[in-house]
Amino acid sequence: MATGAGGVMSLGFEIFTLFPEAVAGFLQAGLMGKAITAGHISVHTTNFREFASDRHRTVDDTPYGGGAGMLLKPGPVVAALEHAVAARGPMHTVMLTPAAPTFDQRAARRLATLPRIGILCGRYEGFDDRVRDCVDECLSIGDFVLNGGEVAALVLVEAIARLRQGVLGNPESIAHESFAETGGDDRWLEPPHFTRPVVFRGLEVPKVLQGGNHRAIARYRQVEAWRRTWALRPQLRPRLRLCDEQPLYCLAPGELADTIKSHGLEPLSGPIDAKRVRKQLTRRHGCAPRWVGLGLGGGNPTAASVPASANPKQVLDLLAVTGALSEQTPIVLVLDQVIASPKTDEGILTNAAQPQPDAHQRRWPAPVEAVIQMSADAHQIPGRELAQRSQIYESSQPRVPGEWIDQVLSRVLSTLRQP
Ligand code: ADE
Repeated sequence: MATGAGGVMSLGFEIFTLFPEAVAGFLQAGLMGKAITAGHISVHTTNFREFASDRHRTVDDTPYGGGAGMLLKPGPVVAALEHAVAARGPMHTVMLTPAAPTFDQRAARRLATLPRIGILCGRYEGFDDRVRDCVDECLSIGDFVLNGGEVAALVLVEAIARLRQGVLGNPESIAHESFAETGGDDRWLEPPHFTRPVVFRGLEVPKVLQGGNHRAIARYRQVEAWRRTWALRPQLRPRLRLCDEQPLYCLAPGELADTIKSHGLEPLSGPIDAKRVRKQLTRRHGCAPRWVGLGLGGGNPTAASVPASANPKQVLDLLAVTGALSEQTPIVLVLDQVIASPKTDEGILTNAAQPQPDAHQRRWPAPVEAVIQMSADAHQIPGRELAQRSQIYESSQPRVPGEWIDQVLSRVLSTLRQP
């Protein structure tokens, strides 16, 4: 295999097309041009027309069964492929067509590990379908139809080549962009980026990015990546689910212990020292617990300080994107009714670093990282109970009926366990 500058293995592309000139210009410009000059990648183009067998160099014909347009004949296409293999060696071959799985960053990473890639560009109404049997795979660049595969081929070449060592000036940038591999199957859109000026048309760069707190900046970026993916491309999210053996705990008033146990959660009650519980659970499970609030709506602690969502799946994803989350990671669900109940200390979650808020300023305490915010219609709270919600914090008696918690837990846990 050929090597480029610095002894780095080079990647060879072979592009098969009726329009070699359409791809040549693009490949001379910018970082692609530099990568070719440095020998990190090479691109060889072949015109199907050179492999036509008649004197008119015919490469297209009408479709059997009728229909609009012409098709690329299989003969010249496969002859071009075989010629390139005989002349320059074997390659992984890709036929471009809209009728194929979509090329994405994962496919780019897979293809970037190969030494040689052949890309077949269609024209007219596409290829005679038997060409599929002569290639390794078929790919589309999206759910739209182009006049031909040349633009799609350039998309593949650029997306694949930039993952090869030596092609990008700063390889660090790959690690942080959209769809970057963060281990596992994660696919998140990248968070927003800003440059000077600090205020543009009244829009200010988020304060956290203006400061120098690197942990806060990292957290901001992770949360925004999560927010954006869910808002713009929810189908991209990794298919996370709570595993059946996940250690689950629930911080709730003692009288709910049986209900909580019936869902396979271990109840925690009494004044809870978050630091101590963290230590205990870390020792027991080998990893630190993650804390999730369960907001039951109406009069619950303010969620302004932590991201909240009515969709339990979003919250699970948030935990994953902001830190380690394995099958052993204990998850502690904190019912909102145990936070700073002014009349009882039962189930109160304390945190040495954060004094208990007063009754009018209930906030989720520090260890709570995200909140599943149940809304009234999310679990069909009977109207009678809805009317009582304002009293949730005003009594040391069970403030939310056990059967209600029962419904909420069923719903939350079954949603979290679905892929
Ligand atoms: N040829 C025409 N449209 C295409 C698409 N969307 N992807 C790949 N090749 C194509």
